[in-house]
Amino acid sequence: MAMGNDDFSRYLMDRIRLLEERNSLLLEQANKIEIEKRFSESQKLKFERELRQLKSELERLKTPPLVVGTVVDVLNNGRIVIRSSTGPQFVVGSSQFINSPELMAGVRVSLNYQSLAVVDILPSSRDPFVNAMEVIDSPEITYSEIGGLDEQIREVRETVELPLTKPEIFQRIGIEPPKGVLLFGAPGTGKTLLAKAVANETKATFIRIVGSELVQKYIGEGARIVRDLFKMAKEKAPTIIFIDELDSIGAKRLDTATSGDREVQRTLMQLLSEMDGFNNRGNIRIIAATNRPDILDSALLRPGRFDRFIMIPMPNKDARALILKIHSRKMKLSDDVDFDKLSALTDGANGSDLKAIVMEAGMLAVREERYNICIDDFQKAIKKLLTPTTKQNLHSEGMFA
Ligand SMILES: Nc1ncnc2c1ncn2[C@@H]1O[C@H](COP(=O)(O)OP(=O)(O)OP(=O)(O)O)[C@@H](O)[C@H]1O
Ligand SMILES: [Mg+2]
Repeated sequence: MAMGNDDFSRYLMDRIRLLEERNSLLLEQANKIEIEKRFSESQKLKFERELRQLKSELERLKTPPLVVGTVVDVLNNGRIVIRSSTGPQFVVGSSQFINSPELMAGVRVSLNYQSLAVVDILPSSRDPFVNAMEVIDSPEITYSEIGGLDEQIREVRETVELPLTKPEIFQRIGIEPPKGVLLFGAPGTGKTLLAKAVANETKATFIRIVGSELVQKYIGEGARIVRDLFKMAKEKAPTIIFIDELDSIGAKRLDTATSGDREVQRTLMQLLSEMDGFNNRGNIRIIAATNRPDILDSALLRPGRFDRFIMIPMPNKDARALILKIHSRKMKLSDDVDFDKLSALTDGANGSDLKAIVMEAGMLAVREERYNICIDDFQKAIKKLLTPTTKQNLHSEGMFA
């Protein structure tokens, strides 16, 4: 039995429909698989990323610690002398990625723990070597801002400035210029101020250390810092070294010493030997300041060490008027302000009290939203700050020290 034409074409149609259905099914499947593939690929990427992160975390945890050190010197051949935080010094190399101009004495660096090669320069400079002494470029204080100390200023300049600027005068006369001067006097009378003004008015490098910080903040480091101080002074000469609050390291040595005292004594011994060590004609001068000259070790006072002593007195009536005027120079004053009259009311006040009085008077005017300060403000401020009880409070809290 033969198939009729109609039958055949129906058969073909069916077949085509079937194939088409299959085709679309397959397409659908292909799509599904494609989607699954993409999903798997993205999963793969995700896991790979996670793996990388875990690997690097593992690396991080396994990395040996970096040692912190301080650069002591950079040698000509590119090698570097460093002091590790534990004490000893080493000559080491450095990573090529370090910006070499920044690598200089005093900079804090991190070191590879095995080779101690310099790996990085640390930003903060809280290392005592860097922080305990302060190289002051130019503190913005001039002699004209110091009231009532003209004679003392002249004397300091003669001992400190003149040998630096005109050494030939001393040679001509044939005398050795004094090595250092000691400023002494009651608290708040302008000793630190005067030393800062000297720094500003001379072109010399000015390095300041504060005795109390040496013994309180940098325990165990005092002697080393003093040694580094003089080394730096020689390198940067002409230099003025300013040792503020000398009494903290220069107090009389006692027989019954605690370990803290012994540390202070080591610092003092180092200071004495450095002072003896440097050449008098060299261009290093020392200014020291103290408000307790009575407790200083007599070794400091022997000739060849501090051989000029300059007493910074409490301000007298004229000086007090001048100091009030200096501190209110930039303020708007009403016409009734008469500094001579005010100065008569401030018997017993030191420079820093007078500064506080001016500030307080200014605050009174600000509080009442006035345009200028009148004599009444000053009188109120004096009454407030100089009545015995508040004055005592101020000084005991060291607020205006
Ligand atoms: N003669 C002065 N002329 C102008 N201002 C002064 C004078 N004396 C002190 N002052 C003011 O008082 C502040 C404290 O003075 P300074 O730090 O110089 O005192 P000091 O003598 O070093 O005291 P201490 O013995 O406590 O260290 C100064 O910043 C300054 O504003
Ligand atoms: Mg001082």
